[in-house]
Amino acid sequence: MGEIVLEMKNIVKDFPGVRALDDVNFEARSGEVLALMGENGAGKSTLMKVLSGVWPYPTYQGDIYLRGKLKRFYNTKEAEASGIAIIYQELNLIPELTVAENIFLDRQITNAFGMINWSKLFAETQRLLDELNIKDFKPTDQVKNLTVGKQQMVEIAKALSKKADVLVFDEPTSALTDKEVAALFEIIRKLKRQGVCMSYISHKMEELQQIADRVVVLRDGKTIGDVTPIAEITLDQLISRMVGRDVKDMFPKGKCQRGEKMLEVRNFEIDNPDLPGQKKVKNVSFCAYKGEILGFSGLMGSGRTELVSGIFGAPPGPARGEIYLSNQPVHFRSPHDAIEKGIALVTEDRKRIGLILGQSIVQNMMISSLETVANYLGVINQARERNLAQNYVKQLSIKTPGLDVKIDTLSGGNQQKVILAKWLNTKPKVLILDEPTRGIDVGAKVEIYNLLNKLVEDGVTVIIISSELPEVMGISDRILVMCEGEIVTELTREEATKEQIMAYATGSRK
Ligand SMILES: Nc1ncnc2c1ncn2[C@@H]1O[C@H](COP(=O)(O)OP(=O)(O)OP(=O)(O)O)[C@@H](O)[C@H]1O
Ligand SMILES: [Mg+2]
Repeated sequence: MGEIVLEMKNIVKDFPGVRALDDVNFEARSGEVLALMGENGAGKSTLMKVLSGVWPYPTYQGDIYLRGKLKRFYNTKEAEASGIAIIYQELNLIPELTVAENIFLDRQITNAFGMINWSKLFAETQRLLDELNIKDFKPTDQVKNLTVGKQQMVEIAKALSKKADVLVFDEPTSALTDKEVAALFEIIRKLKRQGVCMSYISHKMEELQQIADRVVVLRDGKTIGDVTPIAEITLDQLISRMVGRDVKDMFPKGKCQRGEKMLEVRNFEIDNPDLPGQKKVKNVSFCAYKGEILGFSGLMGSGRTELVSGIFGAPPGPARGEIYLSNQPVHFRSPHDAIEKGIALVTEDRKRIGLILGQSIVQNMMISSLETVANYLGVINQARERNLAQNYVKQLSIKTPGLDVKIDTLSGGNQQKVILAKWLNTKPKVLILDEPTRGIDVGAKVEIYNLLNKLVEDGVTVIIISSELPEVMGISDRILVMCEGEIVTELTREEATKEQIMAYATGSRK
């Protein structure tokens, strides 16, 4: 760790009804990874947006120093010119453009005639991808055809292409596979040796222990405690700094009686639309019962998301197979059909499918279940709507100044909770959750697990996909492990171990 590169002093940032940052002091050194932790809505992203000119001077109070020099950025371009780059929590790519165009979006590579020099653009991009050891996609691929994980890698390549020496990662790994995370960490270590000053926001503790040097915690817009070397703080100490209380049981598990068969899937298959003859989901059969939490484990790309999308009436390619709901055969031609029959799917990609940006919290929560708040003439009962929404805000501890603020203004984790509320409000018989706690802080995770336990007690069938082993092991009654489109094993809660699940998920045991 070297000299102090970045200092933010007495930063205050107000939004209507919220003081997001309340006199924050922050310093980071060259060649270090400084972890920034805190609950959803604590102010982490906002602090980094002040740094990067998204919230320009003078929309905040306080001072920013780079290598001892006072800096006032009037826009993001100026911050970038000073060597600051951010990899955002929410993806900001243009889906219709290629990887290369996205990376060089604001710095067109042109020839002597001012026209885009395509060969140079693609070559330059390829060089970057090589440096990052990315082999899964090409500079010429359209971004819309990439998975969320790969899009995140494009964002990282874009930031690095700007030769930044102050780099901010805002939950960069939330959608990356283990392999991609390992590749990213390799790059971060390399940048560290080159003296780059990095700040790293994440809710994943194990990850921070691997990559961070020091940690600082934000709570309600204030720093709690000092910047502390990672090696000198325990997990429990960190959690209590963040949450303001001790969290005793990370994975509360309700006692539940398994009831009748609710959902049965037989011989389900989905073709890979891009590779003729190949399948994304191969001959999958399973049952889910009333009163249980059924977990799906597996690596990213193992077909879990495709499987549940298929069940929900939105397969990514031609699908075959049988689905039974309470022993009755059903055919869902669209998600609408599935919702009507009592199935809900909380998707993993909140920006693309989950949320309607520009709309209020109430509107986002009620969109899939307008019949629950409308009378028989279809007129919406606004008081009832608001009442329901208020209940969810309370139940899920959604941090917001009110029900009418636009969803865009909530912190990432709180947006995720709104999506959850939206689906809970459809009163499903089968609730399917795809990575439901991604980006959600420790305290809120426990609240969500408690809520799932309560739903199961009330007779709902819960199916959860999770890439986090402690989570899927901690809350499921049974675990199905998928590998390359197939269910390779079923484990009970009692018999499942980390090693076992990984052995099946990676295909080293069959
Ligand atoms: N554009 C905005 N308009 C109004 N309020 C905002 C805006 N951006 C953030 N806020 C509010 O500022 C507070 C801090 O939000 P911020 O996004 O910084 O949280 P965070 O620590 O990054 O949380 P998460 O872990 O959920 O991403 C929240 O109360 C949020 O609702
Ligand atoms: Mg954030």
